[in-house]
Amino acid sequence: MVDKLFRTTLFWATLVFVLTESALVFIIVKFRGKPGDPEPKQVHGNTMVEVIWTAIPALVLAMIAVPTVRTIFRTYEIPTGADVLQVEVIGHQWWWEFRYPQLGLTTANELHVPVGRTVALKMITQDVLHSFWIPQLAGKRDVFPNRSTTLWFKAEEAGDYPGQCAEFCGIQHGRMAFQVIAQTTDEFAGYVSRMEATGAVSPAAPAAPPADSTAAKPAAAAPALTTTTLAATAPAAPDTAAGAQLFMMKGCIGCHSLNATKPMGIGPNLAGIGQRLYIAAGWLKNTDANLANWIQHPQTVKHGVLMPDLGVTPAEAQSLVVYLRQH
Ligand code: CUA
Repeated sequence: MVDKLFRTTLFWATLVFVLTESALVFIIVKFRGKPGDPEPKQVHGNTMVEVIWTAIPALVLAMIAVPTVRTIFRTYEIPTGADVLQVEVIGHQWWWEFRYPQLGLTTANELHVPVGRTVALKMITQDVLHSFWIPQLAGKRDVFPNRSTTLWFKAEEAGDYPGQCAEFCGIQHGRMAFQVIAQTTDEFAGYVSRMEATGAVSPAAPAAPPADSTAAKPAAAAPALTTTTLAATAPAAPDTAAGAQLFMMKGCIGCHSLNATKPMGIGPNLAGIGQRLYIAAGWLKNTDANLANWIQHPQTVKHGVLMPDLGVTPAEAQSLVVYLRQH
């Protein structure tokens, strides 16, 4: 709908441009002054010409306005039904929180969606104005505190679609990006079960199936049990004990949940962080080096973020990276 509207507008704009510029060039050439020409006839006002140059643009604007208003109202009609995937989007300075109310999952900065299924977004912000924009999938829409706006799209091809905050929202506005990962139905189901598994006692290595994904346990209980579970099921897995302990001692746990079924809303939910493409809201590739640097120097890497420099040593950062890679 948006593309069609754009093409309609572009058609009329092109037509107006070509006609106006052709007339202009023709008149400039045809009536140009030559040496020795007499003073041209001086006129003031011409009602007929003025009526024409008012009426034609009014008509052109009406031709653009009618489909534009129709499209605005149409895109605001949020599709409903059991097949529609509902997502709540919460803007934060400077990252995006995504919640799937039907699935009971929360994530950040990376929105996984199934191909061919309509995704309905309900958006709000925690602080200032932001604007949600995925150029390849949907239009741009502002996001406000205390008032929700909506947007919907359907990804027709699997792929990774970059998105960006499009409303100036502070010093790190430019680094408030996100990714939409459109997956086949099977891949999406796999993603959902991996995320659900982070809510169970065992945040097992990605390859291992969730042993028993029963009821969600508090995230605080997870790290202690992690090592035992990992040792039992995957002996080759790296030692995450040091990282697990640091995650609590350095206070990471105070803002970051590692459990996708337990939203916290202060810092980005880190369930699945080990597999994400980017860290720091689309700003850095999710490599071990970048992650370690980010953990040690958040205020240098992305000045102004809520995460303070916590005095993490390089060795501690390495342990935390090893730990987070398993989530
Ligand atoms: Cu959020 Cu710009």
